[in-house]
Amino acid sequence: MKKRVFSGVQPTGNVHVGNYIGAFQNWVRMQDTYETIYCVVDLHAMTVPYEPADFMRQRLDMAKMIVASGVDPHRSLLYFQSDVPQHAELAWILSTITGIGQLERMTQYKEKSDRAGQNLGLLSYPVLMAADIVIHKVHAVPVGDDQTQHLELTRDLVERFNSRFGDEFPLPERITPEIGARVMSLQDPTSKMSKSDPSPASRILLTDSDDDIRKKIKSAVTDSDRYVRYDWDEKPGVSNLLELFSVFSGRPISDLVGEYEDAGYGAFKAAAAEAVVSGVAPIRDRFESIGDDEILAIMDQGAATARERAEAEMTSVRRKVGLSA
Ligand code: TYM
Repeated sequence: MKKRVFSGVQPTGNVHVGNYIGAFQNWVRMQDTYETIYCVVDLHAMTVPYEPADFMRQRLDMAKMIVASGVDPHRSLLYFQSDVPQHAELAWILSTITGIGQLERMTQYKEKSDRAGQNLGLLSYPVLMAADIVIHKVHAVPVGDDQTQHLELTRDLVERFNSRFGDEFPLPERITPEIGARVMSLQDPTSKMSKSDPSPASRILLTDSDDDIRKKIKSAVTDSDRYVRYDWDEKPGVSNLLELFSVFSGRPISDLVGEYEDAGYGAFKAAAAEAVVSGVAPIRDRFESIGDDEILAIMDQGAATARERAEAEMTSVRRKVGLSA
């Protein structure tokens, strides 16, 4: 039997090259060797202030972007989290074996509760995330580096559940890409590229025009030196651009350094921009060609299958915890 993977993305808009490199790229690759399950985690996106009138659009657009990035709905199961209520039911059960202190220590909780204000959903977010993963009994979770802490909590909960109620869930492994597990902001290369950064110039969106991409890379913050070297301590801006260049051109970083070391930042940035344009443009074009009805049909079909499987798993969980015979 093929091993299984699960991963998710929040439909919060502004999907950027960090999401693509950290996550989607691996989602696509893993379709060849794993049974793949991917989810637009809409319940998670409700933990920060949002506009209900825009939410449907954002949910559909995120689903389209996953398909546009190369996830094939014939090979992968793709659905909206809220269409499969078993996720939330399992999150409740897992919450009864989760310590509050552990949740309060989560970096994402600390960051978001500063910005968005505290609410119970934001605190318990990682428990729902653990439920997303374990309900499909998956072995691997392709994510960017920023999800490490959440994956650790998931593994703790798996161990706790299995020892308290009997073996049920496998221990899931985190899968991050070798290059680009943490794509940094173009305006501040010491903080990660993020959907919520107030500066649009800090991120390259998968919907950006070719010219937007060129402009953003041209204005990316580097340093006052002029040599292209891969050195995260001394040259984080240049190192970040080297990673983007490498991922989208398929060329090793050492090759790029060899070619551009003395070329000056202008020429280096122009070449990096063309590589990023050539990677992003086809995704953007596919995204624009997918209709709302088409994506809704894909998501509905995925949800029907996911519900059936999640219900089978919950039947086993309910027995283990003493909720059914
Ligand atoms: P989210 O929606 O913030 O991001 C989706 C994916 O993109 C990755 N990512 C990055 N990778 C590299 N560099 C960056 N700058 C960057 N920014 C984002 C994230 O690591 C993620 O893989 N909690 C999750 C969603 C989630 C989930 C799950 C993921 C809910 N349930 C179950 C996996 C399994 C999140 O907020 O991702």
